Amino acid sequence: MTSAQSHKISDVIPGGTFGATKWPEGYNHVIDHGKGPRLWTTEGKVLIDYLLGSGPMVLGHAHPKVVAAIQEQAARGTQFYGMNDVAPALASRIVELVPCAEQVKFVSDGASATFYAMRFARAFTGRTLIMKFDGAYHGSHDYAMYGFQPDHRSNVPKLNSGSAGIPSEISKTMLVAPYNDLEAATSLAMANADNLAAIIVEPVQRSLMPKPGYLAGLRALCDRIGAILIFDEVVTGFRLSLGGAQQAFGVTPDLCSLGKIVGGGLPLAAVAGRRDILELSGNASKDDGKSVFIDGTLSGNPLAAAAGLATINVLVEEDGPAKLAKIGTKLKQGFEDCAKRLSIGLQVIGPPVFPDPIFDLKPVYDQPTYMAANRGAARQFGTEMLKHDIFLRVGAKFYVSITHDDDVLDTTCKAAYSAMQAVRDAGLVK
Ligand SMILES: Cc1ncc(COP(=O)(O)O)c(C=O)c1O
Repeated sequence: MTSAQSHKISDVIPGGTFGATKWPEGYNHVIDHGKGPRLWTTEGKVLIDYLLGSGPMVLGHAHPKVVAAIQEQAARGTQFYGMNDVAPALASRIVELVPCAEQVKFVSDGASATFYAMRFARAFTGRTLIMKFDGAYHGSHDYAMYGFQPDHRSNVPKLNSGSAGIPSEISKTMLVAPYNDLEAATSLAMANADNLAAIIVEPVQRSLMPKPGYLAGLRALCDRIGAILIFDEVVTGFRLSLGGAQQAFGVTPDLCSLGKIVGGGLPLAAVAGRRDILELSGNASKDDGKSVFIDGTLSGNPLAAAAGLATINVLVEEDGPAKLAKIGTKLKQGFEDCAKRLSIGLQVIGPPVFPDPIFDLKPVYDQPTYMAANRGAARQFGTEMLKHDIFLRVGAKFYVSITHDDDVLDTTCKAAYSAMQAVRDAGLVK
């Protein structure tokens, strides 16, 4: 179904994009519909999708069980604000699966989840400072943007905010440490021990794997100084394993943020974690200096909860994370094989569920090493893949779904071979 549109998209939507991502000229596709691993554009192109709605669509597009759950709930009503019977079922599922989750507070997007996780930590500890890591992305709110620079602006002094409109006072409430450097995090934390409310970390930062012992080290550091450990599992939740990165790495945080998969492609996210912390929001009208006020018109929306629950149930029934890892591993091996045949130096970083090809063989483990690792070639590779009808965010990791079958992977690897050839011919790789 298409709607009549009387304006050019960029006349009515700033930059012609919903978020901050821009596609190269000619590839700003308008998507008509999606099914499984494919998208159909309004211009009739068929694309293989490795962006997957920026991550939520792990079952592929329009999975029959998710569609049925949405239809069933839509017929019962889409929004009540009062309690419904679907979101508590989803909360129970989260409590069963996610190690740190004793309770769940629903919000509508991942940024709200990290924002409120920080508020919970500050309220619980009575402290102000939050430590985050250089290059981490926790959404686009003021605290999260501090110290974050969009990819293309890496030469901006890194402690600025990557957005105008953020008060400089935010800098007095945040600390930024290098990722994967426990010693640096420890000395910064110890120097601020009395006022450090929390450490927030993406357990796999973008596609950078944590060094062995790093997450456990952050856990011990937080315990030592009485700070809250927050895992931002918006990307990793239900994907790295059913219990997320905390289950995969065996380190349990106090709180975690969940997003993307938890809403099954509809707007829903959550803060999950320790009961004694989350209960602070259980009676927001209490004036005891500790109660946390959180409210949102759509929080716990039944339609989104139905989509999330259906998605997670399929992942449980089908051992989804293992399937995703197998598919991602095949894709990684396909990329490596192309590079080998073309004598291109390539390493594929990240967990198997979202491989990220890097055209440089030097070790990549934090933001500076990532930014120094031939980003130009990675971006050109992405642009070339777009030319072969592979849909992705240029220069980013590849999300896979359980519907990316061998045919799809073969087509992708043929495209990757041509794309790498073009990158080599452009003189961008050694
Ligand atoms: C690790 C992480 N945290 C938080 C967010 C923000 O989530 P949302 O875009 O739903 O606000 C993202 C978004 O990609 C993310 O990758």
